[in-house]
Amino acid sequence: MDQLFDISGGTALITGGTGDIGRAIADFFVRRGVKTYICARNAQSCADTAAELSRHGECHGVQADLGSLAGMQRLAAEISGREDRVDILVNNAGAVHYAGIDVFPESAWDEVFDLNLKAPFFLAQAFLPLLRKAGTSARPARIINIGSSAGSQVSANEAYAYSTSKSALNYLTRKIARRLSKENITVNMVAPGPVDAGLMSKMDEAFRKSVRDDIPLGRMATPDEVAAAVVFLASPAAAYLTGVILPVDGGVTGCMR
Ligand SMILES: NC(=O)c1ccc[n+]([C@@H]2O[C@H](COP(=O)([O-])OP(=O)(O)OC[C@H]3O[C@@H](n4cnc5c(N)ncnc54)[C@H](OP(=O)(O)O)[C@@H]3O)[C@@H](O)[C@H]2O)c1
Repeated sequence: MDQLFDISGGTALITGGTGDIGRAIADFFVRRGVKTYICARNAQSCADTAAELSRHGECHGVQADLGSLAGMQRLAAEISGREDRVDILVNNAGAVHYAGIDVFPESAWDEVFDLNLKAPFFLAQAFLPLLRKAGTSARPARIINIGSSAGSQVSANEAYAYSTSKSALNYLTRKIARRLSKENITVNMVAPGPVDAGLMSKMDEAFRKSVRDDIPLGRMATPDEVAAAVVFLASPAAAYLTGVILPVDGGVTGCMR
């Protein structure tokens, strides 16, 4: 039983590892013996977060802007120079933009789609050689995308590009899962509902209360609850799962629609 949940010994990259959810994932990985790389645009917060997490294991921060193909390729080149395999890629970095339908700007569509949808595809592409070297039939390499319940339910908020990008990421996750299923690489998604941190903490309390009121379990998730699902999908216990969208949303998708 212990071995089924033992993720130690591998190497992982977590994008957006300085944000609330990414950091919680990185913290769990580092404490469980995974050599963990985190990346974000802000070099200082990458270095600070990596230094703090390194008190519990091995963590490295790499500055990267995943809003461009060049940024993703630089990141892949940097990690390829240091590692000969990567066992787990967590596509966690994400962006949201709220604006009314009359004024929603094209620039926000580009920014949100570049990071939430194109980056998971092109990072998977860039890291395939390292993932292929890591995966075996008994212990496949893992691509774990962080989606959102917003990708499968139609909410009243005006995050047009965000919800649409996460919905497309649901499909992309299953599409790539099928393509890589013969290559010892699984592709799954954790789809959180509202999390009391990160992107959500930028919203005002009235909005946050209306969000809480709509969740069957009556509260938002914690970053650790999202990270725990990622650890499960990264573990030997999940070796036979691919193309799975795992909601961590207090019942929003499971018992309301
Ligand atoms: N919070 C929620 O309620 C919630 C709910 C459902 C799903 N999610 C999903 O969970 C994931 C993490 O969200 P979060 O709430 O933890 O967000 P967050 O705290 O705002 O963190 C976002 C992370 O992404 C990085 N990032 C942003 N733009 C980037 C870029 N162009 N290139 C590289 N890194 C970039 C940020 O660092 P820099 O700014 O330094 O680049 C930061 O590390 C996202 O995919 C989000 O959609 C969140």
